[in-house]
Amino acid sequence: LKDKPTVFIIFGGTGDLAWRKLVPALYNLYIDKWMPKEFAVIGNGRSKLSDDDFRETLKEGVDQFSRRGKVDNEVWNNFSKHLYFQSADIKNVSTYKDLGKRIRAFKKEWKGDVNVIFYLAVAPRFFTTIAENIAAQKLATDVAHSRIVIEKPFGHDLESARELNKLLCGMFDESQIYRIDHYLGKETVQNIMTFRFANAIMEPVWNRNYIDHVQISVSEQLGVGGRGGYYDEAGALRDMVQNHLLQLLCLVAMEPPVTFDADEVRNRKVDVLHAMRRFHAEDLSHMVVRGQYGPGWIEGDEVPGYRQEDGVNPESNTETFAALKFFIDNWRWQGVPFYVRTGKRMHQSASLVTIQFKDVPHYVFPNASNENWQQNRLVMSIQPEMSIRLQVQAKRPGLDMTINPVDMVFDYKGTYDTDTPEAYETLLLDTMVGDQTLFMRGDQVEAAWELLMPVLNAWESKQSLNFPNYSADSWGPEIAEALIARDGFHWFTLP
Ligand code: BG6
Repeated sequence: LKDKPTVFIIFGGTGDLAWRKLVPALYNLYIDKWMPKEFAVIGNGRSKLSDDDFRETLKEGVDQFSRRGKVDNEVWNNFSKHLYFQSADIKNVSTYKDLGKRIRAFKKEWKGDVNVIFYLAVAPRFFTTIAENIAAQKLATDVAHSRIVIEKPFGHDLESARELNKLLCGMFDESQIYRIDHYLGKETVQNIMTFRFANAIMEPVWNRNYIDHVQISVSEQLGVGGRGGYYDEAGALRDMVQNHLLQLLCLVAMEPPVTFDADEVRNRKVDVLHAMRRFHAEDLSHMVVRGQYGPGWIEGDEVPGYRQEDGVNPESNTETFAALKFFIDNWRWQGVPFYVRTGKRMHQSASLVTIQFKDVPHYVFPNASNENWQQNRLVMSIQPEMSIRLQVQAKRPGLDMTINPVDMVFDYKGTYDTDTPEAYETLLLDTMVGDQTLFMRGDQVEAAWELLMPVLNAWESKQSLNFPNYSADSWGPEIAEALIARDGFHWFTLP
């Protein structure tokens, strides 16, 4: 399959995503021999660049952002022969006519079937124009071989997501639409499914009988950086929870799929979203929390507050932190809280999924009630540490019976000496081979929006906030601690 000749068209070819992620990922796939023998990458942008200028700029990006470090000049020269630049406006019909010509020329040269992938690495306001032009010029009529990849955000709310789905599905088949959620391409995220469904000992305990609660936490030390303009319209709930965090939750909570077929897996995930308890107005005060960071210091550097960031309204009420408590109303999860939080400018960058098991039903050891006693806990660390830790109780060496918790650890670094591919490597390869398992289906995106709309609406209608309410380098607002402490738990962090 990987040998199918491929034309890769990147709208937003001079943008940040192409520079930092897409081209470094294609380069790594090339080195690892995953790219087909015949392929071309055409970057579209308005700048007046020659193919050579374009290649030079991309080389700098690969130098900086490839997991392999600086490029090898010989390898780069061979790879970069496949890169082309199209200096043209995405609003002009002639741009698409020209692309059509280029695609036809490659098809003629390579003979046989050719995959054509249109990657929309542009701001969402351009999605419609590009998609309509691709359809009008009949560039994607070969359903089996042409694909369109859409970056997030997919819609701004339920209504706009529905509209976008309607528009895309009117022009392309769902099997051609690849909605990216880059978290799904992360090695450790994919391993959640393997861990659950390739090990027989997990399934019997993976339910309300043994699990006390689940935590999903994605904290970032970074602020909004240069993305203030986008972020101020989005906020943490739209930017992270609607997509990445809910996808993690689905992987933890889904029923075992019967096969690893894309639709089977996505059906099981969307079942979770449908089973999630809807928020009612009276729930919001104790089930959701929002926050915004103020100025502070991170690792010796003074950092501005959110309202002082470039592109951000100085009176902005956009949340940079969100924490929510969810329930899933089905047989497996009834009564088990799922606590989810994410925030920027927090004390640590760490993405963790924590499964807290219930306590033993009866203490048999004389000093078992000592404060060291802890229930079993499974921590799947997605990044930066890539590990799975199972905390168990053990007897401390000595003549007395003292019990303390210890970790059984599976650590990627210590276990494998191969490098871990970047999320975009996995996802770009999947678009080339036509595997949609790790991409969002239209109904999943809508179900996630639907779940969060009551929160978004309530937040929008109540704007008199005490922001900022957490300082940089903290764990978020104190009320987020209260959200979980009320139930007798606390947010788990790695030491
Ligand atoms: C993106 C968000 O989707 O994910 C960013 O828009 C966020 O705001 C990023 O920083 C986090 O991704 P990662 O891979 O760095 O955890």
